[in-house]
Amino acid sequence: ALPLAVEALVGQMTLEEKAGQLTLMAAAWAGGAASKLNPIAPTGGYESQLADAGAGRLTGVFNGNGAKMALAMQQAAMRSRLKIPLIFAADVIHGFRTVFPVPLGEAASFDPTLAERTARVAAVEAAAAGIDWTFAPMVDIARDARWGRGVEGAGEDVLLGCDFARARVRGFQGSALTANDAVMACAKHFAAYGAGEGGLDYNSVDISERTLRDVYFPPFEAALDVGAGSVMAAFNEVAGIPATANHWLMTEVLRDEWGFGGLTVSDYTGDMELIAHGFAADERDAARLAFLAGVDMSMQSALYIKYLPDLVRSGAVPMARLDQAVRRVLRVKVALGLFADPFRRIDAKREAARIGTPANRAVARDAARRSIVLLKNDGALLPLAQNRRIALIGPFAAGQHDLIGPWNVYGSDADAIDLATGVRAQAGPRAAISVTPGSGVDAPLDGGIAAAVAAAQAADVVVLAIGESQDMSGEAQARTEIVVPAAQRALAEAVAATGKPIVVLLKNGRALALDGAVLAAPAILVTWFLGSEGGPAIADILFGRFSPSGRLPVSFSRATGQAPYYYAHKATGRPNPDGPLEPFKAHYRGIPNTALFAFGHGLTYGQIAYAGLDVSDGGTLSADGTLTVSATVSNSGKVAADEVVQLYVHDVAASITRPVRQLKAYRRVSLAPGASQKVSFTLRRADLTFIGTDMKPTVEPGAFRVWIAPSAEAGGVEGRFTLA
Ligand code: IFM
Repeated sequence: ALPLAVEALVGQMTLEEKAGQLTLMAAAWAGGAASKLNPIAPTGGYESQLADAGAGRLTGVFNGNGAKMALAMQQAAMRSRLKIPLIFAADVIHGFRTVFPVPLGEAASFDPTLAERTARVAAVEAAAAGIDWTFAPMVDIARDARWGRGVEGAGEDVLLGCDFARARVRGFQGSALTANDAVMACAKHFAAYGAGEGGLDYNSVDISERTLRDVYFPPFEAALDVGAGSVMAAFNEVAGIPATANHWLMTEVLRDEWGFGGLTVSDYTGDMELIAHGFAADERDAARLAFLAGVDMSMQSALYIKYLPDLVRSGAVPMARLDQAVRRVLRVKVALGLFADPFRRIDAKREAARIGTPANRAVARDAARRSIVLLKNDGALLPLAQNRRIALIGPFAAGQHDLIGPWNVYGSDADAIDLATGVRAQAGPRAAISVTPGSGVDAPLDGGIAAAVAAAQAADVVVLAIGESQDMSGEAQARTEIVVPAAQRALAEAVAATGKPIVVLLKNGRALALDGAVLAAPAILVTWFLGSEGGPAIADILFGRFSPSGRLPVSFSRATGQAPYYYAHKATGRPNPDGPLEPFKAHYRGIPNTALFAFGHGLTYGQIAYAGLDVSDGGTLSADGTLTVSATVSNSGKVAADEVVQLYVHDVAASITRPVRQLKAYRRVSLAPGASQKVSFTLRRADLTFIGTDMKPTVEPGAFRVWIAPSAEAGGVEGRFTLA
C-alpha cells in the first residue's frame, strides 16, 4: 500500500497527470547521452521537457547527464501542482564512469559475487550522478552467437543466467532502495528477446511454452526473487503476439503467476512499434493494447500521455487499470525514497567524490582479469618471460579505441588503459615493445602486412590483438558470419608464416568461429571488451601476475552455420557427438556438431586433472534426500591455479526429452602446485526439475548420468545415479 499522503495524490490527479506518471522520455538535455545513443523519435528539446516536468506530464527521463541536469529537472517537478518527484533512469549496463567488462565477459568469471561487486560500484557511481533506476540487468538467455545483444547478458546457460541475474540485481539495489547509493534494477527484456529467428535483432520468436518456462523465464524469476523492482517488455513478438502487447506474458505469467508487484516499462517506442508489427491499427490502438496487456509505463513514444486520458474517458480503458499503473509508479518512487527527498541522489559534490575513484578502478582491474579465458596454451607459451622482444600486432594493438565495449553510455575509451600501455608497464625494464596495426578492422591497411611481418621477424614473440570492434556487437548488430574479419585473418596468416610464436588476443562481444592461423596459434586468450582497466588486466595474465581462471559462458562453435549452437541441446534420434562422422547422423557436412571450444572451457597456468567420481548413498537420490557427488581435482603444474569445477547431469529417459547435459553446480577451487582436493556437490530432487507434459515443474524418477568436468563437452569424470 502507498503511504496515505501519496495515496491521497491519486485521488487528486487529473487524467493527464496520471498519464504523465506513465510517460518516460529520453533526456533532451544538450549533450545528454540519450540524444546521441537513441536516434529514433527525437524529443522536443530540453525546454519543452522542463515545461512537461513542471506541468506533471512527465514521470522522468533516461540517459541524461549528471547531477546538474537532474537538479534542474527535479526543481521543475517540484514546481508542478502535485510535486510528484521525477525518476531518473539510465542504461548502466557494465559500469558507469568506471567501466567493467561487458556482462558476457564478466559471466566468464563464473563468479556471480564478482558481478554483484561491479554492479554495486556501478550503482554507487550512477546514483551519485542523480540516477535512480538502471535498465539492467539484461537476463535474456542468448544461444545464437549471431545476435549482437548476447554481449549484454550472461550467455547461454540457465543456471549461470539465474546466478548472474540475482547477483546483478543485488549489486544494483544494495541493501535498501532508499539509500543514496542504490539504483532500482530492471530485468529485461521480457521475454525471449534472445531467441529471435536467425539471431536477427528484433526478429520474431516462435517458441514452445515449455522452452520459455524451462530456459528463458528462469533468469527473470531469479531476478524477481531477489526483489528486482521493474521489468522491461521485449521488442519481439512471441508466437504472433508482440511481448509489449502480450497479456499472457505481461499479466498472466508476470503478475498472476509470479506475483510481481513492481513496475513494467515498454522498451524504447516498443508500444508504437505494435503498428509496424501489424498488431495495432494506429497509435491510439497501440497505446490501448500495450496498456491493457500490462505495460505500465511507456518509454519514449509519448503514446500514453497522448491517448490514455481519452481512452479512459471513452471507456476503452478502465480507470481502475490506470490507477493501478499509477500506483505502481508512485510505489516505486516511494521505495526509492524520492517522496521523502526528491534530491536524495542529486548532489554534485558527491558525484565528484564517488565517481572513478582508485578503489573503483581496482575493482575494474580485478573484474577484467577474472573475465579473461585462456582457450589454448600449447607448449606453455604463456606466461611470457620478462625483458623479451614483443611485437604487438593488430588493429587493437594500441590506441584509445574499442576498449570499453558496446552499450556504455557514460564511460569513455579515453579514460581506459589500452593494451600497449598495460604491456609496457609489466614487460620488464629491458623489454623491447613494438606496435604495428597491420590491418584495419574490416579492411587491409596499405603496407600493413609487410610492416607487421617485419615487426614479427624482429621479435621473440608476437601478441596478435584481433577480433571485433565494439560496434560489431550490441543492439542491432547481428552478424551473418561469426568470424574474425577477413582482413585480420589474412594478417594472422602472414604473421604466422614468420614462424614466430603467436599469442592471439581476441576482442569479441560474442562467440567466434575460429580457423586458420588464428586457431593454429599456440596461445589464444578471449579478452572480450574489458573496460577501464583492460590493458593492465591483460598484462597481468600475459606476464603471469594472475593465473587465468575464466570459462566460456557461451559455446564457441566450429562454423557460423551451426548457429544456434549451445551445449544443452537435445540429442536427436541420430546423435553423432564425437569421433568419426557417420552417415545419416546429425551433423553438418564435414564437421562434427560439437563445439570447437565448449561452454565452460578455460585453461589455467596449472596442470589440472580430474579423477575418482564418487556418488553417495549407493547412487540413489531418495525423494526427499540429497546426494553428494564428488571428484578429486589436482594440479600437477608448477603454478597455483583457480579451477572452475562443473557438475553436469543428463536425464537418461523422461516424458519430455532432456538436454544432453545441463550445468547443475559449479565451484571455483584454488589449487597450489602439487595440491589436490576432493570437490563435493550436493544434488537435490529440485535440481532435476523440468517442465512436464502439463506445463508444470515436474521431477521423474529414473536414471541420470552425471559428470564432474572442466567443461560441458570434454574431460572430467562420469558416473550415474538413480532418482527414487
Ligand atoms: O534499455 C534499452 C533497451 O535495452 C534497448 N532499447 C533502448 C532502451 C533504453 O535506452
